[in-house]
Amino acid sequence: AQTLMYVFLLSSFLHPAAIQVQITPTQGEISVGESKFFLCEVVGDVKDIDWYDPRGEKILPNSPDISVSRSDEATLTLTIYHADVDSAGIYKCVAKNGDKEAQATVQVKIFQKITFRNAPTPQEFNEGDDADIVCDVVSSPPAAIIWKYKGATIQVSKDVRFKILSNGHLLIRGIKKTDEGMYNCEARVTARGEIDFRMMKVIVNVLPTIRARQSEVNATADVGSSALLACDADGFPEPTVTWAHNNVVLETGDKYSLNGDGSELEIRDVKKVDEGDYTCIAKNKAGEKSEEVSLNVFGERITPFSCDCIKNNMVLISFSGLFLLDLLTFAAHSSVPPQLFCCLACLYTSLQYC
Ligand SMILES: *[C@@H]1O[C@H](CO)[C@@H](O)[C@H](O)[C@H]1NC(C)=O
Repeated sequence: AQTLMYVFLLSSFLHPAAIQVQITPTQGEISVGESKFFLCEVVGDVKDIDWYDPRGEKILPNSPDISVSRSDEATLTLTIYHADVDSAGIYKCVAKNGDKEAQATVQVKIFQKITFRNAPTPQEFNEGDDADIVCDVVSSPPAAIIWKYKGATIQVSKDVRFKILSNGHLLIRGIKKTDEGMYNCEARVTARGEIDFRMMKVIVNVLPTIRARQSEVNATADVGSSALLACDADGFPEPTVTWAHNNVVLETGDKYSLNGDGSELEIRDVKKVDEGDYTCIAKNKAGEKSEEVSLNVFGERITPFSCDCIKNNMVLISFSGLFLLDLLTFAAHSSVPPQLFCCLACLYTSLQYC
């Protein structure tokens, strides 16, 4: 049986033939925030008609939330504006004429329609998290919640990763990127056949990964020479890449230049002091990851221009453009002819400079 519709319409007649009181409607069920009126119609000769609230107090005309007004001689209208739970109870209409009196009552029930108190969209999680997808519903009686994804009801019995919590939230254990999308939180109150829903976007962020293209970069200290360090990052949302050296964040300027997405760092006019570890850092909402790149800086590369044997035990090396000379003396080895020894020494020395 439908238990929601409690209506008590009680009429008592002190003088049965004299006065009759009837309340319309006989059912008093109001949704929170809504308004409703009740007519108290009196048959018979009466002077006074009054409505009484559930506390037994006479309701005065034109009070703000609950008011009474006279439509005609025999009808007094009770209006309940913006009902709240406090408005519930038994209202009584009393008609009097001298010592004759009659009354009727109506029980007013206040119910809460399905209301989404907190159903934010989007809701973001990190990949791998146990995602608690919020959908807070209030209603009286309480609503049953079902969740739908891609048009189908989520069957918690079929996938152990999904669980509907006692508060109606959907829990996805170890949420994956593929779980991303629109989720539908649907609330039903069987007693009223009432149904409502909210669509919520679920976003799954992915912690960045970062990889150096080369973990070690060699450069020579030379005027105008530059070194390129590069790291490639991945993740969701697309991570930003920044660089640091000796705990100082590097910015584009005379010395450093970063490309559009920050993946490449160019170091200009490389000097010995630039040597060391550089950190590339990928960062997004889900977190950050970093990687080290070592820069080795070698001395200036000088190409020997010529190498000559002098006196069979001396090598004279001259360098191009630099007017540098290096004179090396070797102790002749007894088993090697002096001329050949000098040539070998010359070759060996040249290679050392190259
Ligand atoms: C850099 O130089 C060192 C020393 O000469 C060498 O061992 C290493 O392989 C070089 N690395 C690269 C990436 O060229």
